[in-house]
Amino acid sequence: MNGNSATQKKKIKIAIDGPSGSGKSTIGRMLASHLGYIYIDSGAMYRALALYLHRNNIPFKDTEKIIELLPDVNIKIENRDGISLIILNGENVSSQIREPIISQGASIVSTIPEVRRFMVKLQREMGKEGGIVMDGRDIGTVVFPDAELKIYLDASIMARANRRFLELTQKGIKTSFEEVKEELEIRDKRDKNREDSPLKRAEDAVYIDTSALSIEEVFEKILKEVKRVLN
Ligand code: DC
Repeated sequence: MNGNSATQKKKIKIAIDGPSGSGKSTIGRMLASHLGYIYIDSGAMYRALALYLHRNNIPFKDTEKIIELLPDVNIKIENRDGISLIILNGENVSSQIREPIISQGASIVSTIPEVRRFMVKLQREMGKEGGIVMDGRDIGTVVFPDAELKIYLDASIMARANRRFLELTQKGIKTSFEEVKEELEIRDKRDKNREDSPLKRAEDAVYIDTSALSIEEVFEKILKEVKRVLN
């Protein structure tokens, strides 16, 4: 914990939304660690469900079956040594959920209203004490409309595809830049156009375009907002 006294006074809720590759999770993790808050990557929860379905050969579009199986899916996020792990029915699946097939699956299953209600309930439970940074698509609009600070991170498709391509390559996942870009475009379209809780900027969210900014620059901008809210 290295925040100054102003940032230690009260424990607020910070919502970070934006499209894939806008830098949400990197910034969310840094911010939570700086403030001594919990960090929750809500996308990882939708990914864990998609992984469960994939492993059980259930098509991502089989809405009826998915709703029926929801009670069998236990999703937890654990923070161990500052690293956040996603636990699916007792198993740490943090790396398996990053495969491209699971990214698409998460985006597809997240269009199902019953799935969203299931996740939102868990997410609200995690945030009820405050002291939380949560990132996703509907955090400022639906999960925590009362969040004291809402950030909407955005970036150009080229910048986001570049970042995601680098990230996947570093993890040893074989892909091409074109494939990554196309995958992001498909998800953007689905995530922004679904009927239930589409990705959109909350009216009271601070908008930051991260295309030409370094992580440190984005972090500094957000930290200023945190201090403004806390003071
Ligand atoms: O943040 P991510 O890319 O890991 O999320 C994977 C998918 O999950 C994303 O394409 C849409 C969905 N999602 C959502 O609908 N709502 C959230 N709060 C977070 C993710």
